[in-house]
Amino acid sequence: MNTPHGIHGTHGHLGHGRASGSDIAMARMLEADAEVLAPYLTRLTGWLAEVADPAPARILDLGSGPGTGSLALAHRFGPARVTAVDISAQMLHRLNKQAAAHGVAGRIRTLEADLDAPWDEIGAGGPYDLVWAAAFLHHAADPARTLAQAFERVRPGGLLAVTEMDFFPRFLPEDIGIGRPGLESRLHAVTNTRPPRDWTGELMNAGFTVEARRPFDIRLDRTQAGPALPRYARICLLRLRSHATDVLDADDLAVLDTLLDESRPHGIARRNDLSVSTTRTTWLARRP
Ligand SMILES: C[S@@+](CC[C@H](N)C(=O)[O-])C[C@H]1O[C@@H](n2cnc3c(N)ncnc32)[C@H](O)[C@@H]1O
Repeated sequence: MNTPHGIHGTHGHLGHGRASGSDIAMARMLEADAEVLAPYLTRLTGWLAEVADPAPARILDLGSGPGTGSLALAHRFGPARVTAVDISAQMLHRLNKQAAAHGVAGRIRTLEADLDAPWDEIGAGGPYDLVWAAAFLHHAADPARTLAQAFERVRPGGLLAVTEMDFFPRFLPEDIGIGRPGLESRLHAVTNTRPPRDWTGELMNAGFTVEARRPFDIRLDRTQAGPALPRYARICLLRLRSHATDVLDADDLAVLDTLLDESRPHGIARRNDLSVSTTRTTWLARRP
């Protein structure tokens, strides 16, 4: 069974597919994610600004995707230069467009590379003061090797921030007015069966000192989440739907399809009872 491990894809599988269609779908989800969860990203980068002293001037974003992290970091850390690495040309193309739109293109360099292969080109621009890996480590074929290579690229005293999602976001109230109450819980129970992973041991094995492991509990109501919430909710539920066919009861599948049908009165786009809740954890590690 496929197990969507967090919004960022089926654990260890999606993101490696090079079909540009799937990359575009993933990029749209990540962009909507960053738009809705902007208050969380602000908190996270604000925390990094408190602990990184001096402020990082050279930043490496591993598995940058369309660059929501690179952009947040470029904004947070004024003159810093960011190197964004991803295996997907499509993701990096979107990143470059966004960087230009945000006026930071001169400070973000994109590098198309497979981080599962030797990191020959990735030293350029380093050593780095901050290495950022958001929703990426679970994609790595050999996370221990990835962390060892990251260790080599960060300067002594520099930081690595690893972020992973603990739980896929939830959007619906218990009773949505159609079908049996508890649809979303059942959907998660059958499609998202892996417990969150603790990276502390791997980080220490790679030579890092783990300074913090901080869970961010994110709870935003409709107003706080802003106008992108219905779009974001629909993208996420569509992703779960694609894994639910053989594992969710037929009556629940029918209700889910009604929710995802934009023309229906109960459809996501027309609901005013949406909210978002999710948990993400960041490990803050330092190279001694
Ligand atoms: C779930 S996305 C996260 C993107 C971004 N960090 C974010 O938080 O929005 C994972 C990214 O890792 C990239 N990726 C997966 N395997 C990779 C590899 N072996 N080398 C480089 N990038 C890879 C994918 O192309 C995808 O953009």
